[in-house]
Amino acid sequence: MTGVSLREATTDDLAALVELERVGFDAAERWSSTSWAGELDGADRWVRLAVIDDTVVGAISVQLLPPASDLMRVVVDPVRRRRGIATRLVHAGLDAAAAAGATRMLLEVRHDNDAAIACYGRAGFEQLTARENYYGAGRHALVMRAWDLHLRTTAGARDAGAQDAGAEGVRG
Ligand SMILES: CC(C)(COP(=O)(O)OP(=O)(O)OC[C@H]1O[C@@H](n2cnc3c(N)ncnc32)[C@H](O)[C@@H]1OP(=O)(O)O)[C@@H](O)C(=O)NCCC(=O)NCCS
Repeated sequence: MTGVSLREATTDDLAALVELERVGFDAAERWSSTSWAGELDGADRWVRLAVIDDTVVGAISVQLLPPASDLMRVVVDPVRRRRGIATRLVHAGLDAAAAAGATRMLLEVRHDNDAAIACYGRAGFEQLTARENYYGAGRHALVMRAWDLHLRTTAGARDAGAQDAGAEGVRG
């Protein structure tokens, strides 16, 4: 993961986020520019990008609602996957949520999204429940939760700050 840094996303990054959606998701799963603009504008949102040489290769959005928080989106460019970039983004999000006073983080993920489920599991999320047909007929959601964020150490907190050295309508 050498050369990857995290930084805060701004409205100037909207085109890069839309491009990440295009390469990172099937058409039916993609968020629109409007959806990402909403994330960038949201006062309770924490949006960070993974960047290599000024190229955006990953993104995450977290809703901070202490004592809870929600992982809204994470995506990594397919050509940069399996290098720990999502793991770093998710841990940074967990650190940011803890710093904001959240004790837990929830997320929804499609029941057959094995890569994301494995990634979240490695980051400490456990399945809480499931929501049938959350993403449409036959496309169920697992609800996963990470607990005890207040017990996190500051080991990963370097990625949680603003200047780090950091399908429509549904989460996940
Ligand atoms: C899910 C996703 C974000 C993971 O990004 P990533 O940067 O490749 O993830 P990491 O490299 O941090 O992987 C961490 C661990 O997750 C698991 N994992 C990741 N991708 C996997 C895959 N395709 N198959 C099985 N396990 C996988 C592995 O345990 C991995 O650790 P390892 O590489 O040491 O074995 C990426 O596949 C992606 O962007 N998918 C499309 C968007 C999406 O589905 N987002 C989630 C819902 S919003």
